[in-house]
Amino acid sequence: MLNDIQEVLYDAEQIQAKVREMGEKLSQDFEGRDPLVICILKGAIIFMSDLIKEMTIPLEIDFMAVSSYGQSTKSSGVVKIIKDLDVSVEGRDVLIVEDIIDSGLTLSYLIDVLERRNSKSVTVATLFDKPARRTVDLEADYTGFTLPDEFVVGYGLDFAERYRNLPFIGVLKPEVYEK
Ligand code: PRP
Ligand code: MN
Ligand code: MG
Repeated sequence: MLNDIQEVLYDAEQIQAKVREMGEKLSQDFEGRDPLVICILKGAIIFMSDLIKEMTIPLEIDFMAVSSYGQSTKSSGVVKIIKDLDVSVEGRDVLIVEDIIDSGLTLSYLIDVLERRNSKSVTVATLFDKPARRTVDLEADYTGFTLPDEFVVGYGLDFAERYRNLPFIGVLKPEVYEK
């Protein structure tokens, strides 16, 4: 698995420092608001679990699965809900936690859905951002690292459902996804 990585972009320590910084900021900004923190499965699971441990305020968590990629490296452009929330967002301050924003399609769909369900506010925290790939004009409220336009895996991000368990984020060797 490690042989398939061309270059490590951010190692576990660098990610941990960034996640801690974001958790502290979010704790200040969401103080007294009892946010509903939504993990967008599957990619955001590792970021989510690390992030909420750095948040020092009362909060509730829930999970949603939306997918537009499948086994491909390119977005199909069609977003569908695979698993919906267990709780209502009505009147809640919602914090969407994503691992990466690429085209922006997943997030723009999610924000739209959660706003239409009468949430009080929708805020987005993403660990990674690839602005060069955007097709929808959209920015996260909190962004960890801005990445170059390369195929990255690790810390939750997959290629064909593999590599999510790498503790760092790295560039996948082209020969791995071209074969
Ligand atoms: C990936 C990633 C984001 C989304 C970003 O999820 O985790 O959720 O794509 O791409 P976009 O901005 O172009 O929509 P994916 O659909 O691969 O599902 P996964 O989280 O289960 O890997
Ligand atoms: Mn995802
Ligand atoms: Mg994926």
